[in-house]
Amino acid sequence: MARRIVFVASEIYPFSKSGGLGDVMGALPPALARMGVPVSVITPFYGRLRTGESLLKMTMENCPVGYPWPPITTDVFETEYKGVTVYFLHRGEYFDRRQYYNEYKGDYFDNAERFIFFCRAAFSFLRAQGEITGEAPAVIHAHDWQAALLPGLLHFARQRDPFWASTRSLITIHNIAFQGRFSSRLFTDCGLPPEAWTPEGAEYYGDFNLLKTAIAYADMVSTVSPSYAREILTERFGFGLDGILRHREQHLSGILNGADYSIWDPRTDRSIPERYSRQDILGKAACKTSLIRQLGLSPHLADRPLLGFIGRLRGQKGIDLLIDILPELMKRDLGVIVLGEGNLRFEQTLVRMMDEYKGLLHAAVTYTEDLAHRIQAGSDCFLMPSRFEPCGLTQMYALRYGTPPIAMGAGGLRDSIIPYPHPKSTGFIFQNPEPQDFLRTILQAVDIWENNPETWQDMVQRAMSQAFTWDKSGKQYVELYRQLGWSE
Ligand code: ADP
Ligand code: GLC
Repeated sequence: MARRIVFVASEIYPFSKSGGLGDVMGALPPALARMGVPVSVITPFYGRLRTGESLLKMTMENCPVGYPWPPITTDVFETEYKGVTVYFLHRGEYFDRRQYYNEYKGDYFDNAERFIFFCRAAFSFLRAQGEITGEAPAVIHAHDWQAALLPGLLHFARQRDPFWASTRSLITIHNIAFQGRFSSRLFTDCGLPPEAWTPEGAEYYGDFNLLKTAIAYADMVSTVSPSYAREILTERFGFGLDGILRHREQHLSGILNGADYSIWDPRTDRSIPERYSRQDILGKAACKTSLIRQLGLSPHLADRPLLGFIGRLRGQKGIDLLIDILPELMKRDLGVIVLGEGNLRFEQTLVRMMDEYKGLLHAAVTYTEDLAHRIQAGSDCFLMPSRFEPCGLTQMYALRYGTPPIAMGAGGLRDSIIPYPHPKSTGFIFQNPEPQDFLRTILQAVDIWENNPETWQDMVQRAMSQAFTWDKSGKQYVELYRQLGWSE
């Protein structure tokens, strides 16, 4: 039996999700399991965990963690999800909260402690499990800063504990803007030895930087699209880690995420009022009228282009670019729907504008899975003006729902959208994160929608036939695991 690949991540859909990371964890491990790779996932037991129909059983009680002080332990629960064993690490005072990482005032003050605990607990649990099974994982596959201590813990443990001798690590960066940068005093007791405190290791301009630590000590580094793998080597996109990444360039690669079509496909989607397909697309119009009615938009929009936006209301997603041009879009009698939460200032501006442009603009400042599906199905175009986008999943979903994306030419957006006027175009790309560029591109799309319905429908057809399957991405991960010494 092949040795296990162990994912460590702070979210996994459907149990927990704040964005794309959750989607990826809910889909990539099952895809690997289908390919015969033994895979498990370690994740926090949040108070708001959606356990749904899954039965959780306790696997280990009082597993010693020793952080932040010696008697501290974790309880471990497990369940099976789509062929994957998911382990939940329980420690109420860290994870039993309303949100995952932050409340409206900002990040939880003890995020460093929470996720250092999470990493150390995961590592201790794997070691304790090894005592029973006699087997160490082949690869620890850590995701983002919340799991980023693991490659360092492994690197140093390998030097003194033969148990870890043949285990390798991979860190996948889903977003380099979030690094887990904390005060140097949090390095004390984090589990790494003092020699890790160097500018080549955990130290970053006098601070403790978790993601940097992982980049320094992981056996391999990957990110979620080939374009982003190149972009993060530059000052513009590297968020201060381009230097150390260039240092590790030989071990850096980019694998494009997939879309989980068992959840995001208008042929089978239970959240939308009418199902439709490429061959029978009539239901899409019904989804549009129903969405307009549900949100109280003006009925005449049924015959006008309806533009949808779904995402965190933050600078990364370029929501400010959209806010800037909203008056122009409204002047042209276009419908706009925004679903998102995030920065309070953007939330307030959108709610105020919704009042001003009643009937044409709807801003849903909330997090609702159901509505996300309905917007994908009911809109004509999907807006994604991201300043940077490591991969982006919503544009992939939009393609499948026949909703051509209008997106910035960055990261995974470039790797997943074929831009107009290419004969095989599936959407629109603009090159600079400037409101005027964005507006011009939207107006180009609107012009085609209004005056060339055939060209539009051809694009919709091509968009819907794109397939970003997880099986495709899974194969590339297996190739990385092989390079790390994993074998069937
Ligand atoms: P990111 O991970 O950077 O937020 P992605 O495009 O990779 O961006 O993934 C975002 C995921 O989160 C998608 O599944 C999207 O539908 C979902 N999402 C984002 N904001 C909301 C919201 N307000 N309500 C429901 N789903 C949302
Ligand atoms: C991050 C990125 C997003 C990516 C997602 C899943 O949240 O911002 O672009 O799709 O992770 O990898």
